[in-house]
Amino acid sequence: MSGLDPEDFAPLRALAHRMLDDVFDRAEQMGDGPVWQPMPQQARDAFNLDLPEKGQDAEALYGQFLDQIRPYSNGNPHPGFMGWVQGAGTPIGILAELLSASLNDNCGGRDHAAIEVERQVIRWAAEMVGMPKEASGCLVTGSSLANFIGVITASRVVSPELRREGLSGRKLVGYAAETAHGCVSRAFDLAGLGSDALRLIPVDELHRMDDLALAQRIREDREAGYHPFIIIGTAGSVDCGAVDPLEALADIAQAEKCWFHVDGAFGAFARLSPEHAIMLDGIERADSLALDFHKWGQVPYDAGCVLVRDRAAHAQAFAQSLSYLTRADRGLAGNAPWPCDFGPDLSRGFRALKVWMTLAHYGTNRLGEMVATCCDVARYLAERIENDARYLLMAPVALNIVCFTLVDLEDEAVDELVKDLHESGVAAPSTTRIEGRLVIRAAIVNHRTTRRTIDAMLDQITKLAEKHAP
Ligand SMILES: Cc1ncc(COP(=O)(O)O)c(C=O)c1O
Repeated sequence: MSGLDPEDFAPLRALAHRMLDDVFDRAEQMGDGPVWQPMPQQARDAFNLDLPEKGQDAEALYGQFLDQIRPYSNGNPHPGFMGWVQGAGTPIGILAELLSASLNDNCGGRDHAAIEVERQVIRWAAEMVGMPKEASGCLVTGSSLANFIGVITASRVVSPELRREGLSGRKLVGYAAETAHGCVSRAFDLAGLGSDALRLIPVDELHRMDDLALAQRIREDREAGYHPFIIIGTAGSVDCGAVDPLEALADIAQAEKCWFHVDGAFGAFARLSPEHAIMLDGIERADSLALDFHKWGQVPYDAGCVLVRDRAAHAQAFAQSLSYLTRADRGLAGNAPWPCDFGPDLSRGFRALKVWMTLAHYGTNRLGEMVATCCDVARYLAERIENDARYLLMAPVALNIVCFTLVDLEDEAVDELVKDLHESGVAAPSTTRIEGRLVIRAAIVNHRTTRRTIDAMLDQITKLAEKHAP
């Protein structure tokens, strides 16, 4: 038999129909089972086998998926999932994934519809945050890569020779709040600038970058012979959802001739809620911006996005001239510039279809309402915490993240309690450190999380607290 298609499609088609029914049954009942459960050793062992010489029936593989994979998945579509910052996905997103897999487009470039869909999505993303529609950008794995691309582009603007010469003694430095996501310092590391070249600026009592401290640090660096080139503001910090004073940072960047990058991984979506949009004023002044459709945009993983105001600067940072990738004036090799001109990836999948279908299906009004509802659920949790003497609210709630702890519990007990909570299957928040103390961190990014989910989590925490009380 040559090729890999089945001789008879009928059995596979029947199985596919069953799979789709199962997928939608599960989506309809999302929240019925545990948010998460540990994977038993027997199921883990099923993924420790030798490379198969002979193939297996698709039916058997689906059985294995149902028994050994699906029950032990990450759980982020479940309403009880409140850990880290993870979107829940949607039914339309599931369908989009199926459709894009059916095309199997390579979206590194060339002249085909997927490239136009991606361009549409990039224009919509720019419009969403108020950047010019002419801004360039591309879809990437996530904000880790989007922030990296922002840093790379900015450094190549101040020093185009960097691409050939490397740093060669240049003393480029950048600035972000001490609460910036770890991927920002990693971006400096990966870009060869060194993570020490990222100056971490203290935050105020609302956990936002202190702009006076920023201005002071830039002055000191200039006096010491450094070359400040980028200011990175965060719109929605990972710990507690704080938004840096973006207008003030944009002003400083302008005065200091620095690139202004915004990490809006999840917070950028607050722009869609009229009630919250104002908090992000200044985001539209970004020279580049990272945001994740897979977080508050509810697009299935992965769907990050980078935007760059100046198309030429973006292209200059990544473009390469290679004979095997010649751009033609017509034919399949036409339609330059290609997405591979705007980032490190050459081969890339059709991420844009699920983003396009999600935005087009729900529209920004409905997505904005969803964002506002998440913030309302977070406020509800914060109020319950503040009105209960057994609990302590550990950080101001700017958007959708609530950090809290129990008055009587030490760090170690909080850590154990959260593990028990995960294993109970009721809710899955994560932890972080606020002012040195380990706290429970509930990030309401999930469109399925409601006040009832919060009540169930707090009931369970209260029960577990008795077990862990000193
Ligand atoms: C503020 C912020 N920036 C960057 C990231 C990294 O995003 P990703 O995991 O999509 O790479 C996150 C992840 O939670 C985040 O919250």
